[in-house]
Amino acid sequence: MMLQSRASAPAKIILFGEHFVVYDKPAIVIAINKRAYVTARPRANGEILVKSENMGISGIFSSDGRYQPIEGGTEAERKLKPIYTIARRLLSISGENVGFKLHVDSRIPVASGLGSSAAVAVASAAALGKLLEINLSKEEIFRVAFEAERIIHGNPSGVDPAISTYGGILMYRRSIGMERLNIDVDLPLVVGDTKIERVTGEMVSRVSKLRERKPFIVNKIMDVGGDLAALGVKALESGDLETLGDLMNINHALLYAVGVSSDEIERLVYAARKAGALGAKLTGAGGGGCIIALSRRMDLNRVADAIRHAGGEAFITEMTLEGVKVEE
Ligand code: PMV
Repeated sequence: MMLQSRASAPAKIILFGEHFVVYDKPAIVIAINKRAYVTARPRANGEILVKSENMGISGIFSSDGRYQPIEGGTEAERKLKPIYTIARRLLSISGENVGFKLHVDSRIPVASGLGSSAAVAVASAAALGKLLEINLSKEEIFRVAFEAERIIHGNPSGVDPAISTYGGILMYRRSIGMERLNIDVDLPLVVGDTKIERVTGEMVSRVSKLRERKPFIVNKIMDVGGDLAALGVKALESGDLETLGDLMNINHALLYAVGVSSDEIERLVYAARKAGALGAKLTGAGGGGCIIALSRRMDLNRVADAIRHAGGEAFITEMTLEGVKVEE
């Protein structure tokens, strides 16, 4: 066994198709160069200590799985449990009988739709696989992370751990599954964060209730959403950022129409467009969380500043082809 290992994995944004994907429309998901880092070290006594620097929580899982909080009280257990589950799973694969100290250092905002928990799970699996010298393939890292993610998110699609593992651009459709699109495009983006945490399940049920009340209309909106994702792939392939921006604006209008936008989201979207963004939309579940703005490189700072003036936090980012990576 090694003395220390460190791995990282990227955050994600949904470029097209959130919510409509629940109704079997395609979604386009993109890895961005904002990463979660996990450092793993062995610990002699069989306990698994997990510390998240950015969340300010830590605790110890004893060998029988009991949780003793260090920082953040007992409620932190729920957030740290997937990492513990990954550690136990990899211990059983390797046949080793040790404990670990896992240190999470994530630059990804939490509970805002950027896939921070999946990125942490993927980086944890990779760091522990390296420490235990069990040479996990990307597919195996994905599986282990996905199993652990189910603990927190119930019945997720698996898109978040997949994009964190493989990087680049994924197309996902419920009835078909995931397909990695082989597109390398320069995609300058600003992410604006409303800093309002939201629960994905509540937003999904809001759409479902509207669809029950107005099925004829909402189904049409969803069909258009699916068409936008297909056109979006073409625009990505040809590197046509102007068309991509138009399609993002239309996609945002559809999300607004099904009731998942909010005052704060609208403020950031409009500020970004006014500052020269080619397109801006909410990303993920909506109701709070983040927006994304596609911009020409020369306008990125202006767009980010405009989002900050409108009350959000902002960072400049881009698509990354780099998925999970063992750092050392
Ligand atoms: O949890 P988020 O913000 O990444 O949103 C998930 C995307 C939804 O389409 C709203 C839900 C889903 O399960 O696909």
